Amino acid sequence: MSSQTNKKNITISTLNEMKKNGQKFTCLTSYESTLTNRISKAGVDIVLVGDSLGMVIQGHDSTLPVTMDQLIYHLECVVRGNINSHIMADMPFMSYSTDDLGFENATRLMQAGAHSIKIEGGEWITKMASMLSDRGIPICAHMGLTPQSINRIGGYFVQGRDTSEHEKILKEAIELEKAGAAMLLLECVPDNLANKITKELKIPVIGIGAGSKTDGQVMVVHDMLGISCLDETPKFVKNFMKEAQSIDEAFELYVSQVKNGEFPAKEHTFF
Ligand code: KIV
Repeated sequence: MSSQTNKKNITISTLNEMKKNGQKFTCLTSYESTLTNRISKAGVDIVLVGDSLGMVIQGHDSTLPVTMDQLIYHLECVVRGNINSHIMADMPFMSYSTDDLGFENATRLMQAGAHSIKIEGGEWITKMASMLSDRGIPICAHMGLTPQSINRIGGYFVQGRDTSEHEKILKEAIELEKAGAAMLLLECVPDNLANKITKELKIPVIGIGAGSKTDGQVMVVHDMLGISCLDETPKFVKNFMKEAQSIDEAFELYVSQVKNGEFPAKEHTFF
């Protein structure tokens, strides 16, 4: 499908440039071809093939059961539908727990069509971020609430509220940038911490439940279309179908509201 358009692909350089110019960028998860095509057509900059597919596609209560083979299947579907968005793929639980596994699995994702990969963690992933980046793979480090560690964390709670945790996340974000991470994703952290990290780092910072000051925003596509089956809607979720007449319009609204700073609003933000 990419041959049908002359639009330039979104690359890491595009995102760096957007950060430098103070232009907000957008990211949505997708796991299949048709929605990816519509998401990309609406001008969403990054499509994330997230391991959230374990919850929203497979019906599990965490991301842990997702395997490399399953992630690759969904990534290949997304690649077929994409027009010109940047495709980021998640490394599933334990797929980067050793250097060898990290090399092998990151290679598989890049060969299946990902433009960058995302790994969860703080200090312990700096070596992996550095090794993969040295070998040409752009890494997004996912910090704050890291769903693959849900059993250690004990629940889907806001991270970095107390001073020591706040300082630890800030310090590790700086270390990850130094190690070569190309992007950072902050999930469920207070607005002031996300703001500090976004200002401190040169690399683009994407937020979900991290307030409005990050360089970009990400949402799970089911959440923004209002079709989540969670009992309670998380504070940071906005159902764009309430303001849109169609799915295409919901994607367009998401793009325009992130870009003009309307989303996320105070009501979606942790302080
Ligand atoms: O897997 C995913 O969808 C994610 C987002 C929640 C950021 O990591």
